[in-house]
Amino acid sequence: MLEIDICGIKFKNPVFLASGIMGETGSALKRIAKGGSGAVVTKSVGLYPNPGHKNPTIVEVYGGFLNAMGLPNPGVDEYIEEIKSVKKDLEKMGVRVIGSIYGKDEKEFMDVAKKIESFVDAIELNISCPHAKGYGATIGQNPEMSYNVCAAVKDVVKIPVFAKLTPNVSDIVEIAGAVVEAGVDGLVAINTVRGMVIDIKAKKPILSNKFGGLSGKAIKPVGIKAVWDLYENFDVPIIGVGGIMSGEDAIEYMMAGASAVQVGSGVYYRGYNVFKKICDEICSFLKEENLTLKEIVGLAHR
Ligand code: DOR
Repeated sequence: MLEIDICGIKFKNPVFLASGIMGETGSALKRIAKGGSGAVVTKSVGLYPNPGHKNPTIVEVYGGFLNAMGLPNPGVDEYIEEIKSVKKDLEKMGVRVIGSIYGKDEKEFMDVAKKIESFVDAIELNISCPHAKGYGATIGQNPEMSYNVCAAVKDVVKIPVFAKLTPNVSDIVEIAGAVVEAGVDGLVAINTVRGMVIDIKAKKPILSNKFGGLSGKAIKPVGIKAVWDLYENFDVPIIGVGGIMSGEDAIEYMMAGASAVQVGSGVYYRGYNVFKKICDEICSFLKEENLTLKEIVGLAHR
C-alpha cells in the first residue's frame, strides 16, 4: 500500500530518516532501518574528517531543537566503511541508503560524490546547513553557486541526485530553479531554520556557535509552504522534511506536494519505531478516506 518509486528507485514506504539523526554509524542506521524506515539518509559527509563545532551544539527549545553541530563526520573514506558494514543487512530489510554529502566548492562535492556513489542508492547534496561557514547555506543561498555544485555532481555520477534546500532565503523558488536547471533529479525541503537562544543568567547565547538551525514541530508550517511552492513550480519529485511527528503531518506534506518525507526530531519524541508508527497512521488515513498514496501527492492544489 505504501510502496513508491522515486526516480526509478523503489522504496518500500515513503517515510525516511532525515540526515544528521542517528546517522553517524552503520549500526545506528541499521537500528533506524529496523524501526521501519523506507530509506536512511546518512549524516552529511565531506572529503575530510571534521570535528564540528564545540559544545554545546544542541539545545531543546519550545517546539523543537536548535542545533549547530557543524557537520561533524569522519570523512567520506571512513564513512564508506560504516555503510559497507551494514549494506547487506539494509538490503535484506529493503531499506535504501541515501548518501548526504557536503563540500566547500564543486570540486569537493564532486570528489565526495564519486567516492560514495557505488555504496548508496541516491545522493542528497547538503547545500543548506545554516551555520557551517563556507559550506552549507553559503552555497544554497546563492543561485549561481547552487547551480555550479549541482551541475558538477550531476556530471560525474549516474545515480539520482537530490538537492536539500535552505528555508533561510527570501525566495526558495529562485534557488530551486537554479538546481533544477542544473539537472537535479529531486528536491528536499527544508533544512533547519536559522535561530538563536540566549541564556539570560549567563548573559550569552547557549550554543557555542551562538546561532544554529531550528528543527521540530515549530518549523512544520515553513516546510509545508516551501513544498507547496516547489510543487507549484517544478516537475521533479519533492521530499518533505521539517516537523513531521505523525502520519497526519506526513499526509499534510504529501498534500502540499511531497512524494516522500523525512523524519528527524520525531525519532526523539516517538522512538526508533516512529517510522513504522507513521506508516501505520498513513495507512489508516488512506483506508478511512478511500484514497491511494499517489492520489494524495499534491491533492491540496487541486
Ligand atoms: O541544522 C543542521 N545541522 N543542518 C545541517 O545541514 C547540518 C547540521 C549540522 O551538522 O550542524
